[in-house]
Amino acid sequence: MEVKSDFLVIGSGIAGLSFALKAAKFGTVSLVTKREERESATFYAQGGIASVLSAEDSFEAHIKDTIKAGAGLCHPAIVEMVVKDGPSRTLELMELGAHFTKRVVNNVEELDLGKEGGHSKRRIVHAKDMTGQEIEEALLKAAKAEKNITIYENHIAIDLITHSKFVEKLNGDTCWGAYILNKKSGDVHTFLAKGTILATGGAGKVYLFTSNPDIATGDGIAMARRAGASIANMEFIQFHPTCLYHSKAKSFLISEAVRGEGGILRLKDGTPFMANYHPMKDLAPRDIVARAIDFELKKSGADCVYLDITHKDPAFIKTRFPNLYEKCLCFGFDMTKEPIPVVPAAHYICGGVLTNDCGESSIKRLFAIGETACTGLHGANRLASNSLLEAIVFANRTCIKAKELAAKDAAIPGIPAWQTGGAVNSDEAVIISQNWDEVRRFMWNYVGIARSNKRLDRAHRRIENLKAEINEYYWNFTVTSDLLELRNIATVAELIIKCAMMRKESRGLHYNIDYPETDDKNWKRDTII
Ligand code: FAD
Ligand code: SIN
Repeated sequence: MEVKSDFLVIGSGIAGLSFALKAAKFGTVSLVTKREERESATFYAQGGIASVLSAEDSFEAHIKDTIKAGAGLCHPAIVEMVVKDGPSRTLELMELGAHFTKRVVNNVEELDLGKEGGHSKRRIVHAKDMTGQEIEEALLKAAKAEKNITIYENHIAIDLITHSKFVEKLNGDTCWGAYILNKKSGDVHTFLAKGTILATGGAGKVYLFTSNPDIATGDGIAMARRAGASIANMEFIQFHPTCLYHSKAKSFLISEAVRGEGGILRLKDGTPFMANYHPMKDLAPRDIVARAIDFELKKSGADCVYLDITHKDPAFIKTRFPNLYEKCLCFGFDMTKEPIPVVPAAHYICGGVLTNDCGESSIKRLFAIGETACTGLHGANRLASNSLLEAIVFANRTCIKAKELAAKDAAIPGIPAWQTGGAVNSDEAVIISQNWDEVRRFMWNYVGIARSNKRLDRAHRRIENLKAEINEYYWNFTVTSDLLELRNIATVAELIIKCAMMRKESRGLHYNIDYPETDDKNWKRDTII
């Protein structure tokens, strides 16, 4: 089957849906998503969206906090553009039907703004502790009502379709869509478009422990890499300091907003420790808090540290964090009465497909938005709650270019249908699970919170071997979504390792014990592959 539309959007999180809704005003949109439509990191976002929406706050303060967290690598013009556009885009979400938590001050209703690490002001717009769910539902409802948008659930993009005709070669490749696997039927379809938008989210599943949902396998970054796009800053992986430590709590995040409301990190004996690491204590930027926990765990040999908010009124805790309270209770912890056991876990990738200020990648007609992109906003470390913001701002900006594409006719070249060649069904699926486990484990152990030259070398050797094995498997057997995701996490792991090996210093989220200092003279720049 061949599907033609003006835009092919891959991903149905905040970035993909926001773009699709805007683009549908001037073109047709095919929106493919590899699971059920709401399954995304967006759906699980807790804290909220950083946005300057109070008289006590200012654009200057938000810009300053973002740049400070980014440790010298933020692109100042991008930071300014995103911060200043943020309030309008956040209000647009409210107009679409997202209800954010309000409070009444002097008989006047206003947004209840939360606080998180690295922010000098209260500026996090939230829907209690379920902000992402509120946003995802509002966007999905609007997208379903839009006649120009067709949603394809359980469709996974395999690879981009790029074309470099002789005349185009001088200026690089052009992207005309993607091959997409219908997971239910097993058929591979050709989706053609004048513009293709990668909105596939992050890559937390590259690591053994992560806050991310299962969809986060870095597919967009891996596809862009295979197509030859520039990829940047992959060494900057953000580890969230506080995921619930419990054998059955897969990926359960305890929002930074808990520390924003006074939560204190303690050792097993009750000693608070963050004052030893940073003047902002528990609300220091995430890299510092995650490294402090890692250091304390390695020093004591303990399995976890504890997050304590029991000094707050139980009624307040239950109202402000209803989801966290209930979930913790299910795992046997009453957060109003006892500290919660927590550990750091891979949470966010600051690097990704390199784009300009309109979401354009280095390949013509290919865009990247949301967590898949590297726009210059986050630099070496993302400020909390700046990613939902980045996604809505860039979805809007990307439409500026997309509108131009839709307005013109495009001679989409003849694209051959997907060829299966001699591929057969695999009877050795165990290779997939074995390799998945292996990649995620050595990435956690060798390319985690603290790195060293030796560990990076080991990881590099391992990934080279595994990639060869995975590629052989890929060419011999018919594709399945597990195999595609394995191939993608291996590609992303390789990119992270390569960028980490290139950067011979420590900065922001990248900490190498062999180069513990920041080297502004040589390394105040992006790492680009
Ligand atoms: P996602 O929302 O992850 O969506 C990606 C989409 O792409 C999914 O629909 C997926 O199925 C689809 N997809 C992926 N690969 C393919 C493929 N090959 N083919 C087809 N479809 C594909 N950020 C904040 O700013 N504030 C917060 O409070 C916050 N809390 C968070 C809490 C948690 C638990 C997590 C995990 C992250 C949090 N973040 C937060 C980060 C933020 O949620 C994400 O960065 C953001 O939601 C990413 O949006 P996205 O649209 O780029 O990707
Ligand atoms: C959180 O709620 O702690 C997550 C916020 C974020 O990742 O921006």
